[in-house]
Amino acid sequence: MDTMEGLSRSHYCGEVTEAEKGKEVILCGWVERRRDHGGLIFIDLRDRTGVIQVVASPDYEEQSFKKAEQVRTEYVLAIRGEVRMRDEATVNQKMPTGTIEVRCDEMRILNSSKTPPFYIEDNVDVDESIRLKYRYLDLRRPEMQKNLIMRHRVKHAMREFLDKNGFFEIETPELCKSTPEGARDYLVPSRVNPGKFYALPQSPQLFKQLLMISGMDRYFQIARCFRDEDLRADRQPEFTQLDMEMSFMSQEQILQLTEQLMHYIFEEVLGHDIQLPIQRITWDYAMKYYGSDKPDLRFDMKFTDITELVRGTEFKVFRSVIEKGGQVKAINVKGYSQIPRRELDGLVEYVGHYGAKGLAWICFTPDGIKSQVMKFLGEDTIQAIGTACGSETGDLVLMIADKPAVVAAALGELRKEMARRTHLIDENKFAFTWVLDFPMFEYNEEEKRYVAMHHPFTAPRDEDLDKLETDPGHVYAKAYDLVLNGVELGGGSLRIYQQDIQQRVFKAIGLTPEDANEKFGFLLRAFEYGAPPHGGLAFGLDRMIMLMLKRKSIRDVIAFPKTQNAIDQMSEAPGEVAVKQLRELHIHVDAEDKNLVKK
Ligand code: AMO
Ligand code: AMP
Repeated sequence: MDTMEGLSRSHYCGEVTEAEKGKEVILCGWVERRRDHGGLIFIDLRDRTGVIQVVASPDYEEQSFKKAEQVRTEYVLAIRGEVRMRDEATVNQKMPTGTIEVRCDEMRILNSSKTPPFYIEDNVDVDESIRLKYRYLDLRRPEMQKNLIMRHRVKHAMREFLDKNGFFEIETPELCKSTPEGARDYLVPSRVNPGKFYALPQSPQLFKQLLMISGMDRYFQIARCFRDEDLRADRQPEFTQLDMEMSFMSQEQILQLTEQLMHYIFEEVLGHDIQLPIQRITWDYAMKYYGSDKPDLRFDMKFTDITELVRGTEFKVFRSVIEKGGQVKAINVKGYSQIPRRELDGLVEYVGHYGAKGLAWICFTPDGIKSQVMKFLGEDTIQAIGTACGSETGDLVLMIADKPAVVAAALGELRKEMARRTHLIDENKFAFTWVLDFPMFEYNEEEKRYVAMHHPFTAPRDEDLDKLETDPGHVYAKAYDLVLNGVELGGGSLRIYQQDIQQRVFKAIGLTPEDANEKFGFLLRAFEYGAPPHGGLAFGLDRMIMLMLKRKSIRDVIAFPKTQNAIDQMSEAPGEVAVKQLRELHIHVDAEDKNLVKK
């Protein structure tokens, strides 16, 4: 094997241009492809900037040619040679460096490689588990490198903007106290404090509030967060937030500053000009018209409430739902009245996954109205529903009757599915919206108590304070989420900074003063020493980059992500530990009895 001794890289592969014609360059990289044409060997050499063609021949340099005969894909090479124009016939317009090549005057083989388990190229058709197992090879692919480079650019732009706007980046601890409210904690046993555990932070929430009490005024952190929850395409057990907190600012000022931050990032990184101000809707509006607190506003298709229209009809399904306090809502799908019967049956099954017990439909076809509920509702009511939904000939109306939560979930999912099927979604669009005025609490049926919808440090609206004890279900919070294309990008709130209100909120979620003191005593004590009014928010960095790059999964924008089962396929974490380690940590586990740990 050769060394780099005496050679120093002069250019990256993808950055050599026609301007270097006739000059000598020194390049380093991996062999993407090697083509042997007898007396000539062509090597496509790749680094993180791109690929360039290198040509070896005994006529240029005998030894290099011999080496070129040995190299295989993914060998690591250093090449010295002159840049020259390709022959007309061999120009490759698809390659940015397709008009030039490098004559190989010296080749060094710096390392060999086994045959990789998949081709290192974009759009490879290979199972994700193999890609994750050999992530370092997967990350050699240009598309994945682009994702990570973009991620760097986004973080850089954030830091730049926040620095210019008086924010300081401050790190907060990773070994924290367990304060489960929200997701499950990841626990870390303490060796020197037998029987005690740290928790990894679900977010730096309490620390950033303490920094405001410290007078830091404007804080941010690109923070690691850990949540032991069930994973989906846009969730990972450890993920990154852009976390921010500010003192002495109104909600309006926080929203405006955040919009400018987003504008700056999208402009710097994508050259995309977000139209400001970003539109604002209330949580009530979002739920009423889209059935979701994170509506996809790349298309409209709002819900129409037809409860009153069908209240008095013969259809017993609708009637009994309404009698029990439920509702009936509909969506109008433009130009889809010719939907095949089989597809309609499939839709009934589709909404069933979201809890709906059925789906009623009306097809306003050019040949007349077709509906499975025509005989129950009568033509007049059917026409009235069409009018209420703004339907025209050619449209399809889909209706669900149920409890509000089920209608919201099932019709909300159906709305998105019908938009996909009818190609209503412009994939190039960025549809931002603020969702404001969240309810402070939601009722948890399992635990038979109210829980905080955001977190218990969120400030209730002033006008709702007197309902904290009497009617917690109708207390709204000074909370806001930023939603992009149907994904919750970030969220935050103005915080409680007065101890008495904090205590009342704890009480509303069923925390006794003793519990509250045990869990959050340090925060409550801090509130006694002059806490300023403050508020902030946090963005999911992984989600933001996923959306900016139009990827379907956050795994594509994380260097070393985990699988749906929270496993790192490459290092095989989590792994077993030795009994000795457990003993040191004063831990005796079930797994030990079941022989699941190493002796
Ligand atoms: P929240 O819990 O809403 O707020 O989280 C903020 C944002 O983080 C992202 N996010 C995730 N991304 C990937 N995987 C996950 N498992 C995951 N969970 C959340 C989302 C979300 O909008 N401390 C508060 C913020 C505040 O009030 O300032 C908080 O953590 O994009
Ligand atoms: P059924 O009387 O239950 O057979 O229902 C008659 C029709 O109404 C069927 O085509 C069902 O799919 C539809 N349907 C039943 N339940 C609901 C519901 N909750 N919302 C909307 N349509 C329903």
